[in-house]
Order: sequence, then C-alpha cells, then structure tokens
Amino acid sequence: MMIFDSHAHYDDEQFEEDREALLSSFKEQGVGYVVNISASLSSVEDSIELAKEYPFIYTSVGVHPEEVHHLKEDSEAYLRKMADYEKCVAIGEIGLDYHRKEVPHDLQKKWFITQMDIARDKKLPILIHSRDAAQDTLNIMREQHAEEIGGVIHCFSYSKEMAAKYLEMGFYLGIGGVVTFKNAKTLKEVVEYAPLESLLLETDCPYLAPEPYRGKRNNSLYIKYVAEQIAQLKGVTYEEVVSVTEQNAKKMYGI
Ligand code: NI
Repeated sequence: MMIFDSHAHYDDEQFEEDREALLSSFKEQGVGYVVNISASLSSVEDSIELAKEYPFIYTSVGVHPEEVHHLKEDSEAYLRKMADYEKCVAIGEIGLDYHRKEVPHDLQKKWFITQMDIARDKKLPILIHSRDAAQDTLNIMREQHAEEIGGVIHCFSYSKEMAAKYLEMGFYLGIGGVVTFKNAKTLKEVVEYAPLESLLLETDCPYLAPEPYRGKRNNSLYIKYVAEQIAQLKGVTYEEVVSVTEQNAKKMYGI
C-alpha cells in the first residue's frame, strides 16, 4: 500500500533548491507514485524530463486554460507527438477557468475541446481544471461525450449536486489540501457523499498545502493529512483510504 499523488507540479521553480532530495525521500515515507502534471507548453518538456529521471513519476501532457492564449495552430500537432511518450498517462490539465478574466472564454473552449479530442484518439484520460465554470464545463463534456474518455475533475470545488453529475459520467473527483480547511464545508459534504471508489488523492503542489501547513509550500509527503481527513469524514480507516485511492488512480491512469 502506497500513497498515489495523482496531481503534482514538481517542475515548478519552488522546488528548484531541494527537488532531488525531496523526491528521493518519498519511497521510504510511503509515497509510491506521482503523476507530474503539465500545464503550459514549457512544462510539457520539463514534466517528461522528470518522468524519465524517476521511475515512480509519470507525466501528463496538456495546457491549462489560463495558458492557451500562448498556443499556436501547430501546437496541436506538438501536443499529439508529446502524448506518445510511453510514461504519458493522461491529457491535462485542461478545462475552463473563468476566475481571472485574462483568456477569452471562446479560446478556452476551443482548446478544451481540441485537447479532449487528443485524449480520445490516444485513449488517455483527461485531467480537468474547472474554476468558476461549472455549467460550461459540464455542458462541453456532455456535448463531447467525455464519459467515453473518462478522467478526473481535479481539485474539485463545486457542490454535491454538481459532483453527482460528474460521478454519473464516470469521472473521479480529485481531493487535496482544501478538504482539511475549517471553512471547506461544501467539499467535506462532497467527500462524505461520493463513494471512496470515485476519489483520488492529490496535492496540486506546490499549491494548496493541507492543515497544519496551510499557506506553506505543499509536497506529496503532506498528502497523509488529506487521507486522514477523508478517513474521518467517511468513517473508514486511513489505510483503506490510501489503498482504495491507490487502486483508483492506477485504474484511471492505466498503471
Ligand atoms: Ni494543477
């Protein structure tokens, strides 16, 4: 039984100084798998480099909705080529983000759909980033028959009612540090409601560290606080949370 961190960003510059020491300590601390998530064009290559260097790291290929204005017409061909790398286990993170107002919604939608097509063709799951865009995300996923592709709503932040709709489509919900925050009432309700078989553990590190490290740099060693919180909410053991979410992630990623 090993912790599976389904969503991390170890290519981030915040890990520049101690990346190797940190990553090398994971195995003996019970963290067995990490999927490093690419979010911009430059991070695609950085993420693949990490997967090449560390046996327990896998990678995704994809561009975050707040980065898609940097993409060119030939970017699709590039992403398709990079997704053929043998340790690329997903397309993401992709989706819609209406929180900040920088990237036009139409452009976000276009690249969301394009990257979903790549996932369909490559038979890879999608990692969805959706912020302040619940209904549009759901509409596009339904129109594109995302239930045939599968994947996870990463850092799930919507209501129980919205969770029900994504679960109905066979999607997993990614649960991270936010669930340990005192004010995270809605997310705690979602975790109580959703079957453990539909949850994935994630850090989204360096962001979103759980209590008692809220506000600090996050890393996969802190994911145990997330698992403990989920165990408490669902009335199961910590071991059961770690073991079931490990199986869930392996199943989704095909590892
Ligand atoms: Ni992320």
